[in-house]
Order: sequence, then structure tokens, then C-alpha cells
Amino acid sequence: MNDIVSREIHLTSRPDGLPTPDNFGLVERAITPADDDIVVKNRYMSVDPAMRPPLTNGQQPVDVVMSGGAIGQVIASNNADYPIDAYVMSRAGFREYHISDGSDLNVIETEDEPLTAHLSVLGGTGLTAYGGLLVTGELKDGENVFVSAAAGAVGSVVCQIAKIKECRVAGSCGSDDKVDYLLNDLGIDYAFNYKTSSIGRELHTGLPDGIDVYFENVGGKHLDAACGQMRPLGRIPVCGMISAYNNKGARSEGVTTLSNMIYNRVTMKGFVVYEFNHMRDQFLADMRQWMREGRMKYEETIMEGIENAPHALIGLLEGKNTGKMLVRLAD
Ligand SMILES: NC(=O)c1ccc[n+]([C@@H]2O[C@H](COP(=O)([O-])OP(=O)(O)OC[C@H]3O[C@@H](n4cnc5c(N)ncnc54)[C@H](OP(=O)(O)O)[C@@H]3O)[C@@H](O)[C@H]2O)c1
Repeated sequence: MNDIVSREIHLTSRPDGLPTPDNFGLVERAITPADDDIVVKNRYMSVDPAMRPPLTNGQQPVDVVMSGGAIGQVIASNNADYPIDAYVMSRAGFREYHISDGSDLNVIETEDEPLTAHLSVLGGTGLTAYGGLLVTGELKDGENVFVSAAAGAVGSVVCQIAKIKECRVAGSCGSDDKVDYLLNDLGIDYAFNYKTSSIGRELHTGLPDGIDVYFENVGGKHLDAACGQMRPLGRIPVCGMISAYNNKGARSEGVTTLSNMIYNRVTMKGFVVYEFNHMRDQFLADMRQWMREGRMKYEETIMEGIENAPHALIGLLEGKNTGKMLVRLAD
């Protein structure tokens, strides 16, 4: 195959607080594929909150291409397991082309859903919501559920699974448009804008009997308010703490209500999505069925072109997305 020019995003300096476009650089790289290389043209890449802490803590080296989930199409291959035109998932986002020996690729089996669903509801996002709520959160039908970052990728799936399980669901989010989306598109019971209201007061109003499961995406003030209103034997599956990710060491704001965990015997437990890999078949079957029945909707916020990948990551940290934040790298 001829040489390829691939554009990619490097971290060029470490951000202090919210990243700025100056922390990233667009670099052109000439690639000369060998005969036995699998050449992947990336179509979409995922943008995730977990990309932020490594920019400061050193896990992401400076002047090196960044990484993240991506779906691409094989455009050159002599490997029957990864034939030309196959769609493959990799961790080689933030670049237009990816050269592989196959060991870092997974072929995606698509049914009639859009390709991007495999980076959102049918991918790690959906599995995080499904496993975090049903396994770590031990959700029972009809419970009272509070979800933070509820209009985001994981949060919106959590809200809908909880509604499918006939729960009363309250969600917090950062704009009035997102409140409208949660109430009118996703059909949850109560939603509020945490930027213009008191989280504690809103929870009293939305879930007056208290919270059985708080699906924690945000940390800080959200955890402080929710922890104080947990019901006996309540559970807090800790998925993420995005409010802390721009801080050094991803240190969260202080939480003052933890003693309620004693009196009400509340469990708080962190989890990581790979714990649920063994459930993938059941997860896909459930999600596809809920999607067919119209009970699982999903929204995407898609930015165009590799040059906009840093803006997508900054935008995610500022709440510019509804549903899953993605970057389209090629049609
Ligand atoms: N444990 C795991 O395996 C795992 C896997 C995936 C994701 N996660 C975690 O799940 C959470 C959601 O991830 P996601 O991919 O679905 O992202 P997302 O919710 O689609 O996007 C992040 C959202 O967080 C909100 N946000 C940003 N800064 C905030 C702040 N200071 N306070 C409150 N909200 C803030 C913004 O929405 P608003 O407009 O509402 O502010 C933004 O849209 C993150 O904490 C992430 O780290 C964990």
C-alpha cells in the first residue's frame, strides 16, 4: 500500500485546571505500511471524562499521540480475521489512521443499529450504566434512584434502565435544556439544573422519601447532598467524579455527610466497566431489545474532524454535550 499521511493529536503541555486548545497539537505523520500490516481508517472516536486526569498525572506522555476508543474500517489487510471493510474497535483514537497486527483490534458485529451506537449505548458507555446500576448498585424494581450528570452518555442510559425497572428517577444536569431533555425525551420523574438550584433542596422535592440508589458520576457537592438523603440499606455505585477531574490529583471537594452511611447502613462502592465484560452478551441482548421497544433512546453530540478532538474533550468537561460526545474522523 502507498504511504499515508495521518493527522493525530498530541498533548503538548500539561493543563492546569480546565484544558485549553494550547495544551494540544495537531501533528501530521507519514506512515509506510508493511505488507502484513492491517491498516485501519478511523471513522469515529469516543471522548471520555477519564481522558482528563492522565493529562496532569503523567499517564499521558507529552508530545505523544493520545489514546481513546475508536471505530475504524479496515482498508488494507492480508489477515482473514480482519478483512478489508470490517469495522473494528481499538484504543487508537485521536488519529486518522492506525496500523496494527490485529492484537489491539476487535471486530464489531453490527446489526441494524448505527455504527456510533457501539461507542455509546451498545459499547462501554452502556455497559458502564448497565453493570454499575444493576450489579454494583444492586437495583431493585420500584426503588428511588438519583443520577448525576443525568443527561450525559452514562447518566442517560442509567436513567432509562431505572425507568424500565419501574423506579422513581431524579436526575441532575447543568442546563435548562438538559432538564427538558430528561423530563420530556427520557421521561424521568424529576430533573433539575444544579447550577441554578440547591441540590439538597431539589432532592428533598424530587425524592421526598429518600434515595435507595445514588448513581455517582460527579462527586463533591452532589455526593454531599445525596449521601445525607440515602435511605436504609441504600447503595452508592461510584462510577465517576467528574467535578474533581480538573483538580490536581483529581481531588474532590469535601463531603460532610458520610456519617449517614453508618446510621442507614449505606454501601458506597467504586467500579470499573471491565468488571462487567463477562455480562456482555446479556447486556447486548437487553439493550437491543429495549432499543427495539423504544424504551432506550440515545443522543449524540458529534464534532467534525480530528482537528476538533481537543475542543470535544474541553467541551465535554464544560458540559457542552447531551448524550455521548464523539468526533467524526471520516465518513
Ligand atoms: N467507572 C467506569 O468504568 C466509568 C466508565 C465510563 C464513564 N465513567 C464516569 O462516568 C461519568 C460520566 O461519563 P460520561 O462518559 O457519560 O460523560 P458525560 O456524562 O457524557 O459527560 C460529562 C458530563 O459531566 C458533567 N459535568 C462536567 N463537569 C461537571 C461538574 N463540575 N459538576 C457536575 N457535572 C459536571 C457535564 O454535564 P452537565 O451539563 O450536566 O454539567 C458533562 O456533559 C464520569 O464521571 C466518568 O468518569 C466511569
